[in-house]
Amino acid sequence: MNISTPIERVPTGIHGLDDLLEGGLPNGRIVALTGSAGSGKTTFGFQFLQHGIVACDEPGVYVTLEEEASDLYMDMGRYGWELDKHVREQKLVLLKSPIPFEVDMPLSVDALLDEIHRAVTEVNAKRIVFDSVAALGLPYTDMVSLRRDVLRLCSMLRELGCTTLLTTEMPDSEHVTRFGIEQFVAQGAILLHVAQTYRGIEIRKMRGTKHDTNVHRMRITDRGLVVSPGEHPF
Ligand SMILES: Nc1ncnc2c1ncn2[C@@H]1O[C@H](COP(=O)(O)OP(=O)(O)O)[C@@H](O)[C@H]1O
Ligand SMILES: [Mg+2]
Repeated sequence: MNISTPIERVPTGIHGLDDLLEGGLPNGRIVALTGSAGSGKTTFGFQFLQHGIVACDEPGVYVTLEEEASDLYMDMGRYGWELDKHVREQKLVLLKSPIPFEVDMPLSVDALLDEIHRAVTEVNAKRIVFDSVAALGLPYTDMVSLRRDVLRLCSMLRELGCTTLLTTEMPDSEHVTRFGIEQFVAQGAILLHVAQTYRGIEIRKMRGTKHDTNVHRMRITDRGLVVSPGEHPF
């Protein structure tokens, strides 16, 4: 392969953010999306999927262990994103984990991996959002098994060749350096900040991409997330 072949970019559709990423996320890579509750992770995920479907002809799969489809239809519908229509037209699969969720009964990762694989094949998905990896950890009492399963999950996601967002919870913005395993296995990491008076976004890591590490102002609007590159959020 020619070493100067540029990395193909996958536009997120988030106004302002693609300018900070040389056009978008690196194609086929896994990017961790981290932030506390309400920071905009789920919205970011669906904006990325919505843009893929309507602007790039790239179907998507959304994997969740916690969200209900009916809530998502309603909440994301507020931004004008017709998830139910995309699902009917086989452009989107909303995959709720089929696995019973009980403490001390770790998820059957094999079953989950099978389901993801099937969904990706079914719609020929190019984009995946896994929301969230934090929920995956809930039933585990043993960190070693959890790590092993997250590694297996990431390795399969990589093999699928889709551009993938893994959302992960962060208790609050002061703990941004407390990275979990998902950030190590991801080839990129984006942090969302939220406080009483501002929202911000920070590109912490993005392999093969020239980017800054500033916190840029982000807003949530009636059309979803909007980033203002260069504008300090505070
Ligand atoms: N139309 C809107 N305008 C401004 N902010 C909104 C709008 N709709 C939702 N929000 C904000 O978006 C947040 C939801 O973010 P979400 O993507 O669910 O975050 P996370 O997945 O990180 O918990 C809400 O808590 C609310 O503050
Ligand atoms: Mg969420």
